[in-house]
Formats: sequence, C-alpha cells, structure tokens
Amino acid sequence: MFDRETLAEQAILVHVFFPQESACEDLHELQMLVSSAGVAELAVVSCSRSSIDARLFIGSGKAQEVAQQVTDLAATVVIFNHALSPAQTRNLERVLQCRVIDRTTLILDIFAQRARSYEGKLQVELAQLKHLASRLIRGFDNERQKGGIGLRGPGETQLETDRRLLRDRIAALNLKLEKVGKQREQGRKARQRAEIPVVSLVGYTNAGKSTLFNRLTQSEVYAADQLFATLDPTLRQVRLADFGQLIFADTVGFIRHLPHDLVAAFKSTLQESREADLQLHVIDVADPRIDDNMKQVQKVLQEIDADDLPQLCVYNKIDLLQQSSRIEYDQTGMPVAVYLSAQSGEGLELLAQAIVTLLSDSYQRLNLAVPTDAAQWRARLHEMGAVQQEQFDEQGICLLQIALAKPQWERLLKQSDGLLQNFIVST
Ligand code: GTP
Repeated sequence: MFDRETLAEQAILVHVFFPQESACEDLHELQMLVSSAGVAELAVVSCSRSSIDARLFIGSGKAQEVAQQVTDLAATVVIFNHALSPAQTRNLERVLQCRVIDRTTLILDIFAQRARSYEGKLQVELAQLKHLASRLIRGFDNERQKGGIGLRGPGETQLETDRRLLRDRIAALNLKLEKVGKQREQGRKARQRAEIPVVSLVGYTNAGKSTLFNRLTQSEVYAADQLFATLDPTLRQVRLADFGQLIFADTVGFIRHLPHDLVAAFKSTLQESREADLQLHVIDVADPRIDDNMKQVQKVLQEIDADDLPQLCVYNKIDLLQQSSRIEYDQTGMPVAVYLSAQSGEGLELLAQAIVTLLSDSYQRLNLAVPTDAAQWRARLHEMGAVQQEQFDEQGICLLQIALAKPQWERLLKQSDGLLQNFIVST
C-alpha cells in the first residue's frame, strides 16, 4: 500500500509499555536507532497496554490519536518500537494513512545503509529478503482467506511469481555467501597458521569501538555518532611495541533484543570475536545505562558462543566524566580494566601495556646472535614480523631481539633442526 523501499524523513514514534518487563523495548534506544537511520523524530506517542491488539497492535482510540498527529505534523512515517505482524502493518497503514515501519524493518534498514563489505551486503540483503518472504507468504494467505473462491486471478499469480523470484534470489545469495564464507575461513586458517594473535573489539553500539580501532591501527574505519556505524568486522594487522604483530578485529555493535534472524545472519561476521585470543569489551562510561549495556553485550556473546574468552574491559569516553586514565588489576596482577578516551588518546599506552601483559603469557621473547652464514634465518624472522630490534657487532654478527608466539618459535626451531637454539644469547 505504501512504498517500503526507502525510509522517509519525518517520523512519529510509537512506544508501548507492557506490564511484563521482558516485552518492553527501550525508548531511548529506538530514538538512537531512528536518528541513526537518518530520520527526524517529530513526536513520541506512548501508551500502556496489558496485551497486544490483534488488529492494530495498539487500541483503535490510540490509533486515532496517532492518525491525528500524522496529519497535524505532516509525518511521512510512523515507527513502532516492536515487531508488527504483516496484517497489523497493513491495518495501521489504512488507519493512519501513512507508511508504518516496525523495529525489525528499521534495524534492517540501518544494516542496509551501513554494510560495506561484499559479505556484509549479501547478508543484509538475505536478512531483508527473508523478512520480506515471511510477509509475502502470510500476506498471500490473508488475501486468499479474505477474497475466497473465484479470486484466484492475476493477483495470486503475481504473488506466486514474487515468491518464486524471492526463493531464487535467496538461494543465489546463500550460494554466494557460502563461497565468501569459505574464503573467509581460508583467511582465518592462514592467520592461525601464522599464529598471529587476534584481539577483537566488542561492545554495545556507539561505545566507541571504531574510534578505538582507528586509534590503535591508525586506519580510517568509518566512525560516526550513529548506531551500527560498523557492520562488518574489519581486520588490521599492527605491530605493537614490546610485543610484535597482532591483528585487531572491529565488530558490529550489539543492541538489546537483536531480532533473532539477524543474530543468525550476522553470526559469521562475528566469527573473529568467537575465535579471538583476547576480547576488548569497549564500554561507554558516560552512558547512564552502562550496567544494562554490559549485560546485553555478555548476553549476545553467550548467544554466539564467544563468552569464554579472556576479556579486558575498556571503559571509554573518560573525558566526558573528567576522569583520568588508569588500569585495574585482579589479585593475580593481571589487568582486568583500562579507563581511557579513544577520542583524545589518553590512556592508550595503558591499553597497549595491558594487551601486551595479557597476551605475553603465550609469547616467547629472546635475544639472538645470528652469524652471517645463517642470514636466511634472520630474513625469515623479519618476514614473520618477529624482530623487535636489530644491530650488528664488529664481526658482522646480527644481534636480534625477537618476540613471537611460542608455537611459532617451536616450529622454527624444528625447521632449523635445532640450529636456532645455538643462537640464543638470553631470554
Ligand atoms: P557502532 O558501529 O554503532 O557499534 O559504534 P562504535 O562502538 O564503533 O562507536 P564509534 O567509534 O562510531 O563512536 C560513537 C561515537 O562516540 C562517535 O561520535 C565518537 O566520536 C564518540 N566517541 C568515541 N570515543 C570517544 C571518547 O573517548 N570520548 C568522547 N567524548 N566521544 C567518543
């Protein structure tokens, strides 16, 4: 009835309170989602209900009130902070004389705007088509029930065609995703072979992951004051002083009540957080809902089986609270939290220090004296990015300070038939 392709600019938000806490969505989050989608908020209409109205989700009196607001404020879209059934959407559009969007559609729209990598785009399209397919099929059933016998004309044929086209497109997308998934898997295996530790950044959306990632890797990942500015995990290999090579992985921001389809669709983009050597849980210290945000992140991590990895809490945006940077340790002397500002850069050196301490357990640090006739091993260590410092003495012997993962060192030792052992000067 109304074009669902693009989001309009002027919205009225509808928020419903239910007696059961679990059924309630968060109004503040909806407002952030709406602004992330580039939509202006004209007004919020709230109401309390003990149960959902099957036809209109809200009561007909409330619907009339929203309709009046739509006319008065010239709204172009009404956004519900809940999932609506296709029939409810259609009924509401008739009553409100305006396009109606539910929470899932809004999130999908934001995902579609933000997806940057090929895989991310495919996954968003797949999630959108699946969402659409369920609506088309149910819509078709509804029409048939309503129209009854004799109404099987071109309408049904069109729906049948749409459904088939959708099915074909979904199948094609699944095939493409399978292929991209395999490529990603190969990349992952190659990284594992190289034994380069992976540090992934996870956190509630807008916590500042991309800003921190950019700081840490000096890259230009898109950071904006919008939800989901990052949809695809982005990997960057960097060399950390006193440590060596490691890979940082930025991931999509988590939210409350992520629609289940989307969790499934984005699971593979969160692969890095599942297999990281260390997770940085980035937290916005200035967000009043900090505790709940942290709980939501842990919940999503549990859902994707990534909740048993070593984790370091990174309390970001301390500048907003005029705090100073600091590290907190547990009883064993291991860092558990770092307070910093990704924006100003204050406390970044503490974070680097904490990462090095946490990863170093699995690392080998050595000083080697490599004679000129073993120059190929020097070249090899350089190739692996293991060399921290290098100098030559008067006899041309190369003095190397190296840092590399223990399994990597053991493999090198084997490959050199133990020769490298003779070069060790000190550990
Ligand atoms: P998603 O991609 O939505 O998950 O967000 P994100 O966690 O990657 O957050 P992003 O880096 O995009 O930052 C969100 C907003 O917070 C941006 O406007 C940043 O400029 C701002 N921000 C990030 N770090 C800091 C900080 O240390 N201090 C202040 N004041 N703002 C910050």
